[in-house]
Amino acid sequence: MITPLIIANWKMAIDRDGVKAFKAGWNSKPPMESVEAVIAPPAPYLSLVQELTHVSLCAQNVSENDMGAHTGEISAEMLTDLGCQYVIVGHSERRQNQGETNAIVAQKAKRAQMAGLTPVVCVGEPSQIRASGDAVAYVTQQALTSCEGLSADLVIAYEPVWAIGSGEAASGNVASAMHLEIKAALTDQYPELRVIYGGSVKPENCAAFTMAEGIDGLLVGGASLSAESFWNICASAKGAG
Ligand code: 13P
Repeated sequence: MITPLIIANWKMAIDRDGVKAFKAGWNSKPPMESVEAVIAPPAPYLSLVQELTHVSLCAQNVSENDMGAHTGEISAEMLTDLGCQYVIVGHSERRQNQGETNAIVAQKAKRAQMAGLTPVVCVGEPSQIRASGDAVAYVTQQALTSCEGLSADLVIAYEPVWAIGSGEAASGNVASAMHLEIKAALTDQYPELRVIYGGSVKPENCAAFTMAEGIDGLLVGGASLSAESFWNICASAKGAG
């Protein structure tokens, strides 16, 4: 059984007091042992999150460039130095707002792997693609192109764009079907690929995903900002796989 991978993506939605409150709440709970709990804080708070018990550390972004003259960027090696094991690449917010293409995402993921990080490559279709019936072709193509040239140490996060922050999660069946399609499309290169689901995951609906075939974990936004809520999500995923 694969240990469920449950990642909190805090986006740019928490401040220092919020991180401290999360730490106090999380560290007072029993240790989370049967899932791998991972926190992706805003980069300035990575060192604060190192004080949390039983969590792995993830960055939300990484430069596609090697060390050098890139003002404002953060290299993969710097993230490794700060204790990160994972980095999210190609989140749909960055694809939309920062113009990240599949080629840029693949380059970021490659830099991450070269530095020993596991990239969490995000894919997902917008609502109009889902409505037109082309979601599987769109997402599998996005996954293939965004993972070009990568070694097997990666995770894919399937996050339908229409489900992010909308309160309208995909159903367990819809998510499961897409996860199986992604795995089938990439099985030659990555027979052991882990695919996790994101988009309006909450304590109330998370078990529908973690119990479903092909879903190896969760990428949680809003519901990961409180320690209570994120702990409950991790606890519900226990024993699933
Ligand atoms: P929400 O859980 O807030 O919908 O966000 C999902 C997400 O984008 C995680 O990366």
